[in-house]
Amino acid sequence: MFPAFTEDQLAIRDAARDFAVNEIEPGAMARDHAAEFPSDIIRQLGEMGFMGMTVPEAYGGAGVDYLSYILALEEIAKVDASVAVTMSVNNSVACAPILVFGTEAQKQKYLKPLASGEVLGGFMLTEPDAGSDAAALKCRATKVEGGWQLNGAKAWITNGGVGRYFVTMAVTHPELGKKGISAFVLDAERPGVHMAKPEEKMGLRSSKTVMVTLEDAFVADDDLLGGPGDGLKVALHGLDGGRIGIAAQAVGIAQRALNESIAYARTRHSFGKPIGEHQAIQTYLAEMEARVQASRLLVYKAAIMRNEGQPCTLEAATAKLFATESAVWVCDRAVQIFGGYGYSREYVVERLYRDVRVTTIYEGTSEIQRIVVARSLLK
Ligand code: CAA
Repeated sequence: MFPAFTEDQLAIRDAARDFAVNEIEPGAMARDHAAEFPSDIIRQLGEMGFMGMTVPEAYGGAGVDYLSYILALEEIAKVDASVAVTMSVNNSVACAPILVFGTEAQKQKYLKPLASGEVLGGFMLTEPDAGSDAAALKCRATKVEGGWQLNGAKAWITNGGVGRYFVTMAVTHPELGKKGISAFVLDAERPGVHMAKPEEKMGLRSSKTVMVTLEDAFVADDDLLGGPGDGLKVALHGLDGGRIGIAAQAVGIAQRALNESIAYARTRHSFGKPIGEHQAIQTYLAEMEARVQASRLLVYKAAIMRNEGQPCTLEAATAKLFATESAVWVCDRAVQIFGGYGYSREYVVERLYRDVRVTTIYEGTSEIQRIVVARSLLK
C-alpha cells in the first residue's frame, strides 16, 4: 500500500478505528436523529490525544505526524462524520493557526487547553455576507485601550456554543482592504459574544453550527494572532490544512458508503440472485472503489507535504475538490444500490448521504477549490 505506513501510524489508525467502532458507532444514529452533541466522546478523544494530534506534547498535543492525524480522522468519519468535523475543526483551524502564528504566551494560554481537549475551539471567518469571498469581511475590530472591540456577525461557526477559543478574523484597518484584516484568538466566554441556537442542518446533525453576534467583544492586544493585517494569511494557511482534513472526512464517509453497499449487494436478492451479480450494480461498485482509492491517495499526498512543511495549497485544494465531489457521488450511488431502504432513516447510507453533502461546501466550495487550483497552475 502506498504510502508505506510506519508502525506508529498503523497503531494510531487502529486505535482510532477501535474507538470509533466500539464507542462512537453505538450511539451515532440516535445522536443524529436527536441532533445531540457527543460531549462525552469528544472528551474521550481529548484524553486519547486526538484533539491536538500534530501539536507538540509541550503544548498539550500528541506530537504525531500529519498523516497519522488524517488516518485517524478517516476512521472516525467512517463511523460518525459529526464527530469527525468537530475534531477536524479543533485540530486544523483552531490549534494549527495558533501553533504556526501564535506567540509563546498564546500557545501556553490557548493552545495547551485546546490541544489537550480540555476546551474546544473553532474558526470564525465566514459572515452572513462573506463566504467564498473571504476578504469581504465586515466584522470590525476597533482599537481601544489595551486591545480591540469586535463588532459584527459570524455565520456557520462549527463548535459554536460548545467551544471556547475561536481563531477570529476581523477588519482592523478598513482603508487597507485585504491587508486590513487581522486574526485574533477570541474567548467566547467574554461579554459581548452571543451564540445563537444551533442551525437546523440537513446533515452533520450532532455537530454544532451556530451564528455568532459580536457586540463590543473585547480581545486584548496579546490576543492578536500574527501581525496586524495578517488575518487573511492566517485564515488561508489554516484552511490549507483544514481542506486536507475535510477531504479525509469525505474519504471516510465514502469508504463507509462503499462498505455498506458491498455488504448489501451480497445479501439483497432480485431476479433470483444477489444484486451484486447484476452488472449494473457491479459497475457502480467498481466506479465507487476507483473514486475512493484515487481520493485517498490525493489526501495522503497532501498530508505528507503538509507534514514536511512544503507549500501544499494546490495539493490540498485538489484533494478536497476531488475527494468531496467523489464522496457525494459515491454516497448517491450507495442510496441507489439500497433502493427504497437507502431512503430510510433506519439505514446508515441515508445519514451518509446527508452528512457528505456539506463537504463540497464548507472550508471552501468546490468552485473555490477550482479557483485555487487554477491560480496555482497559472502562477
Ligand atoms: N496560505 C497563506 N497565505 C495565503 C494563502 C495560503 N494558502 N492563499 C493566499 N494567501 C495570502 C496571499 O498571499 C495574500 O497575501 P499578500 O497580498 O500579502 O500576498 C492574501 O492571503 C490574500 O490572498 P488573495 O489575494 O489570493 O485572496 P482573494 O481575496 O483573491 O481570495 C480565495 C482567494 C481563494 C477566493 C479565498 O478567499 C478563499 O479561499 N475563499 C474561500 C473561503 C473559505 O474557504 N471559507 C471557509 C470557511 S471556514 C469553514 O467552513 C469552517 C468550518 O467551521 C467548517
